[in-house]
Amino acid sequence: MGIAIVTGASSGLGRAFVRRLDELGGLDEIWGIARREERLRELGEQLRTPLRPLALDLTDEGSVEELAALLALEKPDVRVLVCAAGFGKFGTWQDMTLGETADMIDLNCKAAVAVTAGVLPYMSRGSRVVEICSCAAFQPLPGLNVYAASKAFLLSYSRALRWEVAPRGIRVTAVCPGWIRTEFMQVARDTKNGRTVRHCLLPQRPETVARRALRASHLLAVATCGPFALVQRIAAKFLPNCAIMACWEGLRRL
Ligand SMILES: NC(=O)c1ccc[n+]([C@@H]2O[C@H](COP(=O)([O-])OP(=O)(O)OC[C@H]3O[C@@H](n4cnc5c(N)ncnc54)[C@H](OP(=O)(O)O)[C@@H]3O)[C@@H](O)[C@H]2O)c1
Repeated sequence: MGIAIVTGASSGLGRAFVRRLDELGGLDEIWGIARREERLRELGEQLRTPLRPLALDLTDEGSVEELAALLALEKPDVRVLVCAAGFGKFGTWQDMTLGETADMIDLNCKAAVAVTAGVLPYMSRGSRVVEICSCAAFQPLPGLNVYAASKAFLLSYSRALRWEVAPRGIRVTAVCPGWIRTEFMQVARDTKNGRTVRHCLLPQRPETVARRALRASHLLAVATCGPFALVQRIAAKFLPNCAIMACWEGLRRL
């Protein structure tokens, strides 16, 4: 059975990936993971490919074990894995609770790695892993500090993993987009000081990012999926981090 697994499938970018994979066809099932089961079921009703809704909280280690048990039972051939579950919080170190900070690291780093490691044994030659990072990964960002650091972790992990699984013919792509019009901002602003980042400039449609990311995942190690993030990637390569952070300090206050 050839399947795709998409985490964060109930909303935004993850949902757009599910829709795009469904459009492209050729899969027996798509497994969608998120906490909101109703959302997953509603999405499933709109697809041609059967969607298996897996209501899991990925910050809970038991959920990852549940996924591992299901994989061991079904032994699918996972053609595509998209790790899109993630969130960020706007605010400086004193604006966030310890719980919010820990959950961000648990979901964006620990869960992404655990899900990937759990799924890789069920992937074969030609399969693709798509790790959703962010252009926040390219440099430190005050006011979005833990989020940017968590995405830098995932970017670094994805790049090395690409080399580790290359002999098996599996491709890993770190997707590092700029702002996207999803529920991300709503979640990010829900802190003691959500106006730390006042405007999210030039947001892209999740459908555009998902389409470009899937296309890029056949070839690229890192995909920005838009001009804004591409400029940021190039700038972060050639300018010192403090110059980019100074620009960001201005931009986030606009
Ligand atoms: N939007 C942007 O500007 C932007 C830019 C660059 C990168 N990204 C990255 O893109 C990815 C997708 O975010 P989005 O923009 O699509 O935001 P979103 O609309 O808020 O979607 C986040 C998804 O993650 C799931 N999720 C959250 N906590 C979870 C948990 N504990 N266990 C399992 N699933 C969980 C949510 O589902 P439930 O709530 O149902 O669990 C939802 O499906 C994230 O990794 C984000 O960091 C976003």
